[in-house]
Amino acid sequence: MKILTVLFCGALLASGVHAAPVAKGDPKTGKGLHDKACISCHASMLGGDGSEIYTRADRKIQNTQQLAARVSACNANTGAGWFPEDEAHVAAYLNQQYYKF
Ligand code: HEC
Repeated sequence: MKILTVLFCGALLASGVHAAPVAKGDPKTGKGLHDKACISCHASMLGGDGSEIYTRADRKIQNTQQLAARVSACNANTGAGWFPEDEAHVAAYLNQQYYKF
């Protein structure tokens, strides 16, 4: 059963188990990783560079735990192949640039 193929980025908000700590990441490194692996879908959904997914009024992420969990789930489900420290870099970038928790 290939359940995971349909549970991509949009799901799994509750699982904070493997979440990397946002505070330890390096936003600059995170931007590079993010821009390579994460923009295409968001951009095709929303246009532009897709960043509106992080700034829309009804955005889903409300705190750093959820942010870390989402980045981790997206990494796993899109096959980006990041290490936990890479997840922390990307979460740090998204937090600095968009969420500002
Ligand atoms: C297969 C397409 C796809 C890819 C690739 C993708 N995403 Fe997403 N992402 C989505 C969709 C669809 C949503 C919106 C889900 C929703 O509204 O609940 C989303 C939402 C998000 C959100 C939540 C935005 C919010 O606050 O509401 C974050 C954070 C996120 N993605 C991060 C990433 C990261 C990091 C990557 C790179 C590893 C990535 N995404 C790659 C499709 C994708």
